[in-house]
Amino acid sequence: MERHTTLGEFIIENQKDFPYAKGELSALLSSIRLAGKVVNQQINKAGLAEILGKAGKENVQGESQAKLDVLANEIFVSTLRNRGEICGLASEELEDYLVFDEEMHKNAEYIVLIDPLDGSSNIDVDITVGTIFSIYRRISKKGTPATLEDFLQPGINQVAAGYLIYGTSTILVYTTGNGVNGFTFDPGIGSFFLSHSDIKFPKKGNTYSVNEGNYVHFPQGIKKYIKWVQELNEEENRPFTSRYTGSLVADFHRNMLLGGIYLYPQGTTAPKGKLRLLYECNPMAFLAEQAGGKATDGSRRIMELQPQELHERAPFICGNKEMVEKAEEFMQ
Ligand code: AHG
Ligand code: MN
Ligand code: MN
Ligand code: MN
Repeated sequence: MERHTTLGEFIIENQKDFPYAKGELSALLSSIRLAGKVVNQQINKAGLAEILGKAGKENVQGESQAKLDVLANEIFVSTLRNRGEICGLASEELEDYLVFDEEMHKNAEYIVLIDPLDGSSNIDVDITVGTIFSIYRRISKKGTPATLEDFLQPGINQVAAGYLIYGTSTILVYTTGNGVNGFTFDPGIGSFFLSHSDIKFPKKGNTYSVNEGNYVHFPQGIKKYIKWVQELNEEENRPFTSRYTGSLVADFHRNMLLGGIYLYPQGTTAPKGKLRLLYECNPMAFLAEQAGGKATDGSRRIMELQPQELHERAPFICGNKEMVEKAEEFMQ
């Protein structure tokens, strides 16, 4: 890989596209880059530093927290709190949103929502995990404390979104609404370099990612769609290949680069699915659309859903446009 453009350079070069508070958004993206580097370093030495395993607590959604869930959350919170770009933060691992209202945050225009560590169940077994982030401009008045309303915005209001994938390489992928770009981390140098410019889903894909163990709980339409992808049809390249890691970030990243569809539908035991609208579905939907793909809950565009609660869930079908539209047909 040629090391031409660093992420820092790219952020500054492209800030002309931001409609407002350009310098602050650039600084915020740089803060996320910094926190990502710290989390990356911790993940890489987790086995040695004895930070694998359970933290012994549950988060607000009743999931048992891993030590690295808690640590990644602390790293993002403290990094973003110590810099002045945001006035509030919400996280999968925190029941309520945090208000940053010290003097240094008084001009802050943005709020952040994060899934500090995505794919928790994979941490202890050395499978790829990630971090997902979503950035909005506040609705409430500048200089006042951030409010719940600032966080409950539909995904179409996102100013930027992205993820870090801690895989065979660590890559930061993000969008500010002007395409999707990916930057690979060089640990020797300590910098991210542009490695995937203007990412687009390939026109066609033949991979599907779904936890088929839940088949019996799925709605009829999804059951029929799964049967359809498994049917023999040489012209349409079916049966598709099944790939599912249990880390949304990893499944999404592969499907975006190679073509594919990810499904986490509602089920009889989970009426709204499992994935969280604000810090899992919306940022991935923004990236998907910017890469020429699509994200739906089965009938509605994910980014147009009006959130009611910080931790609410949504059924999620996301990937190549054509593939998602096919799944939607079955859902009707
Ligand atoms: P998290 O680790 O942040 O709680 O997210 C887990 C999510 C997502 O990453 C993944 O695709 C999905 O849960 C896996 O769920 P199942 O184990 O039910 O398949
Ligand atoms: Mn979790
Ligand atoms: Mn997650
Ligand atoms: Mn998580």
